Order: sequence, then structure tokens, then C-alpha cells
Amino acid sequence: MRTDLIEIDPWQIEDSLIELAGERIAQGQLVAFPTETVYGLGGNALDPDASKKIYSAKGRPSDNPLIVHIADKKDMEKIARNVPTEAYLLAEAFWPGPLTIILRKQPHVPMATTGGLDTVAIRMPDHPIALELIRRSGCPIAAPSANTSGRPSPTLAEHVREDLEGKVSMIVDGGEVGIGIESTIIDLSGETPMILRPGFITPKMLSEVLHQEVCMDPAMEEKDSGKQPKAPGMKYRHYAPKAGMVILDGEPTAVVERINSLVEQEHKKNHTVAVIATEENQKLYHADYVICVGSRKKPEQIAKNLYRILRECDDKNVDMIYSECFDRIGVGMAIMNRLLKAAAHSIIRV
Ligand code: TXA
Ligand code: MG
Repeated sequence: MRTDLIEIDPWQIEDSLIELAGERIAQGQLVAFPTETVYGLGGNALDPDASKKIYSAKGRPSDNPLIVHIADKKDMEKIARNVPTEAYLLAEAFWPGPLTIILRKQPHVPMATTGGLDTVAIRMPDHPIALELIRRSGCPIAAPSANTSGRPSPTLAEHVREDLEGKVSMIVDGGEVGIGIESTIIDLSGETPMILRPGFITPKMLSEVLHQEVCMDPAMEEKDSGKQPKAPGMKYRHYAPKAGMVILDGEPTAVVERINSLVEQEHKKNHTVAVIATEENQKLYHADYVICVGSRKKPEQIAKNLYRILRECDDKNVDMIYSECFDRIGVGMAIMNRLLKAAAHSIIRV
């Protein structure tokens, strides 16, 4: 399939180009586009064939449901039924923005979009191109992250090209995304609100709006708990670079020392090693590649750089990656969630 690559300036959207992209979606084709979190791979959420095309382009298991993107808060009711008060409160506080809400689905939302579930994930993205694309296509847009299943999510159009060129109708390049990790997912379809995936919107921010404690899906971070995560996507080894990866947790000086000694052992095996380091420590490592992920004082920067760096490790064909650990405060919880998945929960405490 021919993939058209088009560039659109988010702050000065070229009418004819966004119109063309919207038409493609309306015709049942796939268009990758930027959102504020990561690039999405979009298709008409109400067309089961478009959803099937999404699964096939990504190589994604079809029991892993898609997020339905809308451009108007009021459209929540067109997609979901029995919408609870909490959903309105959260939409008012955080939409457009990096929050996905799980609700009971309306009957006309195809099972092909919801992975066979009776619930549906809904989000109103905070990106001018995403919003205008939804409006022009005239339908809600189902969009998972625009990566091949199992690879790190794309934060640049270039990443989408690497994974999906030849498999989708169009890729809209709108520059680098702002946040860099996927939206927070909150499930409001059960008895009590529950976070299924941490993101930029933190449990504290959600609790403040809902005036109640919001807990995390207990199955999420316990690798060997035997419990199934409520978001089917969280059970797959996502975000994974090709190399082996280990996270080192502890006092900064001890971490640096241990990483350097592990690098030495790998070098004896003739392995190439990358270290994912903070700005504060980067000069202290002796690896083949020391990649700076940002300052420990600016977790937002780390979130934005993380997936690009995991892809860089792939490009450099390293055999082993060692990464520093980050505080699980604020967006740090989401960073550690993605990092642990990338490392298949391999962590050494020093
Ligand atoms: O930031 C984001 O959310 C990005 C951008 C493109 O919007 N999208 C994204 O989609 O991350 P995806 O498909 O990569 O991740 C969606 C996650 C998966 O873990 C999936 O299992 C979960 O949402 N999910 C979707 N619908 C669900 C449902 N009805 N119940 C439980 N989990 C659901
Ligand atoms: Mg994804």
C-alpha cells in the first residue's frame, strides 16, 4: 500500500490537507496523526472493518480494545450509556487532555473496536490536529498508539514511518508530541473508580476532582500476582526495546558503581551496552552509549524522551541496556510503569 506522508503545522492547519486526511478516515482508511501524548493510528471507530485494519496494521491481538477519540465532550453520550456523574466531572476537569475514561458502551459501538467488551474507552485529545481531524472525518476515531505492537510508542512521525509505512493510507507529521507517554486510563464502569494505566494525570489529581480516593488496578505492577490486568493491553510486554534491559534502584553513587561494573562484565562478553542516565549522573558512566533522558528535577522531560531513547537503543543495536530508576512521584509513577514493562520487570536493588 502507498502511504502518503504529509506535514501539517499544528498552529496553522492547512485546510486542504486536514480535509484530505479526514476524507480518508471517512472512507474507512487508516491515518496516523499526532496527539498530545503519543502518535495515534486512526480509523472510523464505528466501522468494524476499519478497526480490523488497525489490528492488522499494528500486528495487535484483537482482544486488546481501542480508545475512541472525540472532539466534543458532549459526544461522550453518543459512545457511552449510563454515564455516571464522575465521568462528567472528570471530562470537565481534564478534557481535552491525557485522560481516557472507560464506560459502558452504546450498542452501535462495534465489538471489533472494544475488543469484544461491553465497555468502551473514550478520550478527547488536546492537540489541534487530532481535534480537527476528528471534526473533518465526521466520526469518532478509534486510535491505539501508532507503533507496531510490542515496540515503544511513537513520539515523532519518523517513528510511525519506521513501523507503519506501507501499512496505512496516510501519516500526518505534526512534529514532536508534548507529553510522550500514553494517557492515564480510569475505569468508571465498575463499583468504584480504578486507574488501569498511570499517565500524566495522577491519582492525586483524579482524587481531588472526584472527592474520593482513586486506587490503582492491583494487578498492574505485580508481575507474578497471577491477576489479570483490567486493561487487556497492560498484560502484553509493551514498550520493549530489542535488547535486554535492567533497571538499577538505590542511592545514586551505588547505582553508578554497580552499572559500571555490570557494563564491564558485558564488555568481557563482547556485548555493546547503553546506559539510560539522568543529566545529573551521565558523565559518570563508562558504557558504549550513555544516553541522557533528562534531569531528575524535571520528570516531564524524562517522560517526553523515554520512548525515543528506547528506539535509539534499537537503532544502535545494543545488546544490553541499564537504566537508572526514577521517583514514583507525580508523572514518575507512569515513567516507572513504562520502564518496568520495557525491562520485563527486571530490577536490581543496590
Ligand atoms: O494516549 C493514548 O491513550 C494514546 C493516544 C493515541 O490517544 N492511545 C493509546 O492507545 O495508548 P493504546 O491502544 O496503545 O492503549 C489503549 C489501552 C490498552 O491497554 C487497552 O487494553 C486499554 O487501553 N483499553 C481500551 N479499552 C478498554 C476497555 N474497554 N476496558 C479496559 N481497557 C481498555
Ligand atoms: Mg499502545
